[in-house]
Amino acid sequence: MWKIGNLEINGKVMLAPMAGYTCSAYRRFMKKFGVDVCVTEMVSDMGLIYGNKETFSYLNATDEEYPLGVQLFGHDPKNIAKAALICLKTMKNISFFDINAGCPVCKVTKTGAGSALLKNPEILYEMVREIKKITDIPVTVKIRLGWDNNHINFLEVIKGLEEANVDAIGIHARTTKELYSGLPHYELIKDLRLKMKVPLIVSGNIFTLDDAINALEITKADAVMVARGGVGNPNLITQINHYFKTGERLPDKDLETQKQYCLELAKGFKEEYGEEAGMRIFRSIALKFFQGFPNSKELRTNLVQKLDSLETLEKILNDYN
Ligand SMILES: Cc1cc2nc3c(=O)[nH]c(=O)nc-3n(C[C@H](O)[C@H](O)[C@H](O)COP(=O)(O)O)c2cc1C
Repeated sequence: MWKIGNLEINGKVMLAPMAGYTCSAYRRFMKKFGVDVCVTEMVSDMGLIYGNKETFSYLNATDEEYPLGVQLFGHDPKNIAKAALICLKTMKNISFFDINAGCPVCKVTKTGAGSALLKNPEILYEMVREIKKITDIPVTVKIRLGWDNNHINFLEVIKGLEEANVDAIGIHARTTKELYSGLPHYELIKDLRLKMKVPLIVSGNIFTLDDAINALEITKADAVMVARGGVGNPNLITQINHYFKTGERLPDKDLETQKQYCLELAKGFKEEYGEEAGMRIFRSIALKFFQGFPNSKELRTNLVQKLDSLETLEKILNDYN
């Protein structure tokens, strides 16, 4: 067991925030496989302050998804706190706030938000302090190793965040410049948790059970974040959780089970976005369920080009054996 503030978390899997993926339907679906804690995708502080409808839709959630954190991004501590207040009025029982200091996308970093905060960590510490002024809900931060290889500053940032009373820290073991490619540098965060006062969640290439075992063993972290590795492979979460509870390794799922999972998640997307938009968004997710299965090229092409309704999805899946 580990804690985010007073919130007790009983397992080792956090569902990573992923813009465009980790919507309410996705979190609800993944939760059933043993996710211990969820977080929304990043939500713009200014979007909330200006009352943007789409931004508010990121706060949609159902009871099954808790414990659930809300991830905010922005560049101004006062605005982040204002946005947190709006969240508190909009959503019930938010489990914690998470500040995004890891997003490498230029549109975000050029405003001073996301991982640009690693270049000005004082602002990041101030954000934690400002949110803590308005609520007792725990505040966590997700960072990267640093901006680039010449500016690896995670130890300094973690220390500053701890001084600001942060409740837990997530770290993606890459620099901003590395985006999402290449191997994450777990060697640089070896034994990191032992140097910290607050819980640590690690992220970066968690695609298999062994990736999770290694990341936790190297860093001594409290939990791993499952991000791209869980898309189309929800069983990964069960494998990780089951292993850490029992020491047993569960097998991968067969084709028929993957088809069922794919259909179930598609239904969730239909409910959340309506059939047309939902299936359009779901195309890139659907094909991930069949990665690595033999002769899946035609299936994957069909999913990308033709998926427009649940009925089409069922037909495409039935035609693939
Ligand atoms: C499409 C996509 C969207 C992401 N969106 C967010 C986000 O909104 N907030 C965040 O903190 N990290 C975000 N991330 C980073 C992931 O949470 C995770 O740290 C990263 O993908 C590394 O893990 P992985 O290599 O196991 O995928 C995103 C990653 C991807 C691929």
